[in-house]
Amino acid sequence: MQLRSHGLKNVTDGTGLLFGADYNPEQWPEQTWPEDIALMKRAGVNIVTVGVFSWARLQPEEGQWNFGWLDRLLDLLADNGIRVCLATPTASPPPWLGHHYPDSLPTTPDGTTLWYGSRNQFSPSSSAYRAAALAVTSRLASRYAGHPAVAMWHVGNELGQISYDDETAVAFRSWLLRRYGSLDAVNTAWGTAFWSQGYSSWEEILPPRTAPYMHNPTQVLDFHRFTSEALLELFMAERDVIRSRAEQPVTTNLMGFFRGADYFRFAKETDFIGNNHYVDPAQPQSWETAALTHDLCRGLAGGAPWMLMESATSAVSWRGHNVAKDPGALRVDSLSAIARGSDAVCYFQFRQSAFGAERFHSAMVPLAGADTRVFREVCSLGADLQELRLLAGTPAPSRIAVLFDWDSWWASESPDRPSNRLGVMDQLLAYYRPLLRRGHCVEVIHPSSPLGRFDLVLAPSLFLLGEKDAEALGAWVSAGGTAVVGPFSGVADANGHLRSGRHPAVLADMLGVTGEEWRPLANPVRVAFAHEPLEAEALSWSEDLRIHTASASPVASFASGPLSGQPAVVRNNYGKGWSWYAGADLPQSAVAVIIEGALRDARLTSAVAGELPSDVELAQRGDYLFLLNHGDGSRRVELNEHLKAGGPSLDLLSGTTHEAELTLPPYGVLVLKNSHTTEDPTSQQQNGN
Ligand code: GAL
Repeated sequence: MQLRSHGLKNVTDGTGLLFGADYNPEQWPEQTWPEDIALMKRAGVNIVTVGVFSWARLQPEEGQWNFGWLDRLLDLLADNGIRVCLATPTASPPPWLGHHYPDSLPTTPDGTTLWYGSRNQFSPSSSAYRAAALAVTSRLASRYAGHPAVAMWHVGNELGQISYDDETAVAFRSWLLRRYGSLDAVNTAWGTAFWSQGYSSWEEILPPRTAPYMHNPTQVLDFHRFTSEALLELFMAERDVIRSRAEQPVTTNLMGFFRGADYFRFAKETDFIGNNHYVDPAQPQSWETAALTHDLCRGLAGGAPWMLMESATSAVSWRGHNVAKDPGALRVDSLSAIARGSDAVCYFQFRQSAFGAERFHSAMVPLAGADTRVFREVCSLGADLQELRLLAGTPAPSRIAVLFDWDSWWASESPDRPSNRLGVMDQLLAYYRPLLRRGHCVEVIHPSSPLGRFDLVLAPSLFLLGEKDAEALGAWVSAGGTAVVGPFSGVADANGHLRSGRHPAVLADMLGVTGEEWRPLANPVRVAFAHEPLEAEALSWSEDLRIHTASASPVASFASGPLSGQPAVVRNNYGKGWSWYAGADLPQSAVAVIIEGALRDARLTSAVAGELPSDVELAQRGDYLFLLNHGDGSRRVELNEHLKAGGPSLDLLSGTTHEAELTLPPYGVLVLKNSHTTEDPTSQQQNGN
């Protein structure tokens, strides 16, 4: 199996799993550094991210540089065997930049300038900002390329800025010229014949600034694309400066399902995938979003290991009400990332700040010091990661893919949509949850990715789908794959223009069903399954569908309302494979029936007998099964027949053995050696692509 090669391997080959945090010692007197190092060693920390917010310290004024403190810090870390992820400090420009170059500051859609005094106050398209950012990057790279502590480079921080200023408008026009070639083509792509929006010169084109009523949806879509590219260009510009001087891998910390940038594009340009994720302890099921996000990283990494670059040991400080983690939750949250392919557990930050806007944020070392529950849990997790070190570098590919596309997300959540109740993330989670309950991991991938190594592909929400990608999905199904497509998919082309004909026109043959009207619901309607004793209701969404080919049959039909008797869920035998389409927003129990059927079609078996309790996560990495209890009560789990037949399994963390029927204590974790495979041994399936 050909998986993406990745720069993380160069680091983890020497260290094993990475464990650490952002380390911001410039907030503390230098005398505390030796104590920090001692605590790092006690906890088993082997990597720290340094310098993320150090620009004003490194360059207190334009033309003035101050690297002495960083020299001493890196030497100290190197002497103590702690590796460094060295950050360019470009996420938070010093006040002098905004003061001397006000054009570097971003503006909102209504023209308000966002000033310094916080962080992130730059416009991605500002030439003054770029010049200054590259200057500090160049100094850092030249000075520390050969430093023995430096294991990797970290560009900026959570690149996500957006600006509507005049320099951005100029850059947007150039981007449009590159994309479309002429103003006429822009007018066509944007459909400016509508509402008299035709542009007669390039100078008239603007970012979608505050306007009296709804914007042109393609202008908005293109501005998302442009902003994402501008952020990527910033990343690449800094990366190239680093690469011209240094050999260590270069990445940046992504933000999972962040709406502002297309991470499939970033994945192509980074040396490995790094991601930040902050579970919300106030939401007991937020582990599911974390699992999905980790599976996005797995997909971005092409099945190779990735790096959890930031998470929290306990509470964050940026939600309205910042709940602390229960004892044990730190461990289970962190090991969930390892189970899903991360080769690292890192936190924001090592030592809690006493001042500044994040002084209430948890850290590895709380202000109360080392004699604390949090630091004890940190140390014990460090010991766990030592036990799990043999997992470092283990690829984590999956047999199941979820198709996801930022373009489609941007296009489908335009304010002119039929309903704002069919959210992309809600749909993704609705189709992902039944897989979680059966212990299946996925890779979240772009619709243009090769599908050959997957058995089951889910497309819960793909409003915008290109013809080529739709054709490739159809060819893959026809060669023996199984696909599940969610409502309101395959509707629009790359410009967000709706396709003519019965929907989803580009998937009609593969799905064997077509529709003529999207019907958001005023009141819930009943959906009856043909072979399941299930009373389901669609709450917000229905589609007026009819069967399109003889090979298709309704699995469920509307049982009340104006569509009564018409298909709601259709299964089709297409070539050697199977497809499923749901033309309604179905409750979890009904989506679970669809997913269960699709798993059968794909001949994928589960590692558990029945369903997992809703707070238990099961994930397979290499030869190991991770069982993670995210709840504060004990939970029973029964593994499947194959695992039962294998006899008791050894837990890597505790050295104890466990039967296939086992109990997980509250927040308990087991890492069992496993010979189980989710592939049905009788499966002969050979998919093309
Ligand atoms: C992240 C950010 C960190 C810190 C952290 C607090 O989004 O990258 O710098 O602000 O949040 O949770």
